[in-house]
Amino acid sequence: MNFRHLSFDNAPSITTPPPGPRSKEYLAFQASHEASAVSYPKGLPLALQRGRGATVEDVDGNVYIDFFGGAGVMAVGHANPEVIAAAELQLRELTHALDFPTPARRRLVEALLSVLPSALTRVFFGGPTGSDAVESAVKLARLNTGRVPLIAFEGSYHGMTSGALSLTSGRPYKGRFLPLIPEVHFVPYAYCYRCAFGKTPNTCDTHCAKYLEHVLEDPHSGVCPPAAVVVEPVQGEGGSIIPPPEFLPKVREICDRHEVLMIADEIQAGFCRTGRMFAIEHTGTIPDILTMSKALGGVGLPISAIAYREALNTWPAGVHIGTFRGNVVAYAAGAAALGFMLRHDLAGHAMCLGEQILAMLQEVERDSQFVGEVRGKGLMLGVEFVKDKATKEPAPQLASRVRTLCYGRGLLIEIGGHYSNVARFLPPLVLTDDLARKGVEIFADAVRDLEA
Ligand SMILES: Cc1ncc(COP(=O)(O)O)c(C=O)c1O
Repeated sequence: MNFRHLSFDNAPSITTPPPGPRSKEYLAFQASHEASAVSYPKGLPLALQRGRGATVEDVDGNVYIDFFGGAGVMAVGHANPEVIAAAELQLRELTHALDFPTPARRRLVEALLSVLPSALTRVFFGGPTGSDAVESAVKLARLNTGRVPLIAFEGSYHGMTSGALSLTSGRPYKGRFLPLIPEVHFVPYAYCYRCAFGKTPNTCDTHCAKYLEHVLEDPHSGVCPPAAVVVEPVQGEGGSIIPPPEFLPKVREICDRHEVLMIADEIQAGFCRTGRMFAIEHTGTIPDILTMSKALGGVGLPISAIAYREALNTWPAGVHIGTFRGNVVAYAAGAAALGFMLRHDLAGHAMCLGEQILAMLQEVERDSQFVGEVRGKGLMLGVEFVKDKATKEPAPQLASRVRTLCYGRGLLIEIGGHYSNVARFLPPLVLTDDLARKGVEIFADAVRDLEA
């Protein structure tokens, strides 16, 4: 399938150096009247007017290639016509129904059950954000095990509500809001470029997974038997970190041996992003609970859900409620988006195009003294900037400079990573070969400018 018709055909097109006068006016209004907590426009100072496919237009008429993709939300592309048609129909039918059954809700549950691992037989819609899904997953794990402690991984990002923030590792997010929920412990993720144990992947025998086992086994590890281990199959905000294939199956095995539930957070990596419907499928790992959001709302309508094993379906009615648990328009959009993903093999497209982009980025890595590592799975890619390839000293200023150079030339990217030194690509999965090549060329030019 060629997705060319979905995007603006003139991308990139910078006619007024950004931020243009109209963007500046919107940004000034926002800075004067909204919270100082607003963050994305600080890195990418622009006001957005329209989005199509894998491109967006700002209020000054500049058109960008979108490698940011709404932080991974826009899998089927901005203004996907099939999804919009389904959402429009639903808007005229019924828009709010709490958790009463509706035809759209049923269509989405059926669609989800047809793509989820068959062992996950139940779907639950909580509040609209990814963080809400994480909260539901934690409650369900605690309810079923009667245990309180949780184990998460260094480099994790699970959201901003208290429970989800407790599981998020970043000090900048949580440092000023302590205490959060108690008894959350962190162990190293399989971040092989910066292995916490100083090991290398070919000789380590997945030492990080063994360390998890040690924490669970040693009665003096300081960790009481946990309700769950919460893991991102590919870490997103942590810096697009792809664990070696043995990692997740080992975590699963260890959880089984210790009767601990495994929660896979697929909020960012799910829905074809990594080249499979869910990232866990790369290793055939089946969690007990799986969280979903972001791409689930089709064109960015807020919705989240968890799926879980039948045996965990023990909640008493009403124990976890809310006004916006699910949304009828988002169900319709989500079902249409899933249909689009399957009909157009978006997973296969993401896998194939991701490999091409990775190969182009590997050339950038070879030629640059500042690119420590490039990595990616499907269309979830990262470029880690360092001051020196030998010492691996993180270079957040270089990552930020590259983002600014790219934006001035018509490419939007995100930054993440433990040290905010990883350029992250999460483009809409309807990105075309042509836009991918143009985007990577802009990025490569920006990196070359750093060298100069
Ligand atoms: C893996 C993961 N989990 C949870 C969340 C939280 O989702 P939300 O921002 O919708 O609350 C995110 C957001 O980026 C995420 O990437």
